[in-house]
Order: sequence, then structure tokens, then C-alpha cells
Amino acid sequence: MPTPKDILGHLHGGRVLDVATGSGNFIHFLLDALPASTEIIGVDSNPRAATAFAEAFKDRPNIHFELEDALHLSFDSHSFDLVCISNSLHHFDDPLPVLRQMKRVLRPGGHLLVSEMYRDGQTETQMTHVHLHHWWAAVDTVNGIVHRETYQRRELVEMVAGLGLEMLTLHDLSEADENPKDPEILTELDPVFARYIQRAEGHPALQARGEELRQRVLDIGFHSATTLIALGEKPNE
Ligand SMILES: C[S@@+](CC[C@H](N)C(=O)[O-])C[C@H]1O[C@@H](n2cnc3c(N)ncnc32)[C@H](O)[C@@H]1O
Repeated sequence: MPTPKDILGHLHGGRVLDVATGSGNFIHFLLDALPASTEIIGVDSNPRAATAFAEAFKDRPNIHFELEDALHLSFDSHSFDLVCISNSLHHFDDPLPVLRQMKRVLRPGGHLLVSEMYRDGQTETQMTHVHLHHWWAAVDTVNGIVHRETYQRRELVEMVAGLGLEMLTLHDLSEADENPKDPEILTELDPVFARYIQRAEGHPALQARGEELRQRVLDIGFHSATTLIALGEKPNE
């Protein structure tokens, strides 16, 4: 599997934006490849993300959080060297305006990165992750939260290719060599099952689906679905 350095090692860092950053998970991936001096701004529209983000990067003064709507970024055009979005495109009704905002704030010659899991071509154990994701999406949807099912790989490639970037590279990341029935997996997933089954209150079919998926983790096992990382360069205008 390609490492962060294989994918990003040729970039010099500079000023980086991570859109829909949540608690900043993807920034750890970036830090494995980019120079320590890189300034990273994580933005998210959920104020609760700010607390977890601040805790995760409390010792990194050059990494900070700003409350922003990805559809209306307040940053100047051409003001970042690298703009990323990870595992979030399926959290928007229409991800294209977000991608266009990301391209707008990127300087010519800068890089745009999309990292997103996809649903096709997965093994049975990875399909457990895909089914889980789709169950979370269904539970969020009945609670009025925008959360779509995951995309097909082809759809993601088409979306990024449509942005008119240059030197587009595609990397497929999977960790399917780990033990799919490691008891640690259920220990980690159990509180998530509990939370989502509670959120599905009043929707017995959704609650039953959660119980079935919990059993599937035991019977079939779990691997993270393959993630596509697409990286391209913004042309000079
Ligand atoms: C699954 S999380 C991904 C977090 C992180 N990027 C990661 O890879 O772990 C999706 C994030 O999208 C954020 N989000 C959804 N709509 C948004 C919007 N309009 N503007 C900014 N962030 C948004 C949510 O608050 C959530 O933190």
C-alpha cells in the first residue's frame, strides 16, 4: 500500500487547508508526509469538532481550527498550497460546489486532494464497512442529517477529473491484510453500534439492521473499505 510519503512526499507543505476536518483525523496522514513547519488550517461547520481538534493538536501551534461552511469558504482565492477533503464528500447533497470552493482557494500550481472510501470492488470483509457506512447514513438521514451512501470509484474519479486539474494521480489504499476478526474491532465498534441503535429509536427496521450488522462483524469480520486518494495540480489561469 502506498504510504503518505509516496503520495505527498514531493510537496513542500506551505499553507494547507483540510475541509470538513472533524477532529482532524486526516491531518495525521498529512503530517506523516509534509514538513513539520507546514501551516495547517482545519475547517468544519460543526462547532463540536473544534474541541476534539484543539485537544488533538494542542502541542502544534501551526495547526488550528476555524468554523467554516465548506460551501462558502471565507478564505481569499489562491491562498493555499494544498487543499484536502477526506471522507466527507458523501456528507453533502451535492459535493461539486464544495470541490469548486476548494479549487478557488487553491493557488495556481497548488494541489487539490480528495480522499474518500468507495463501495464497489470490495472484499466480503470490506463490505462489512460499506454496509455499516450505509446504515449510519440511513440513521443520520431519518434524523435530518445529510449523509449519503458512499460513491462508486468511477463516480469519484469523474468528479475530480471534471475539475480540470493537471497531473492527476490516483492511489487506492486498503489494509485488508489485518485479522478481520480481531476482537479489538468489536470493542471499538460496540459503542458506535450502541450510539446509532439509540439514534434509530422509533425506526425498528433500522435498529434491527444495526443488530444484524453487529452479528456480521462477528461472523464475516471487518476490514476498512479501500479509499481512493486523488491528487491533482491546479493549472495556471
Ligand atoms: C465523516 S466526517 C470526516 C472528518 C475527517 N475529514 C476525517 O477524515 O475523519 C465528515 C465531516 O464533514 C463535516 N461537514 C458536513 N457538512 C459540512 C459543511 N457544510 N461545511 C463544513 N463541514 C461540514 C461534518 O461536520 C463532519 O465533521
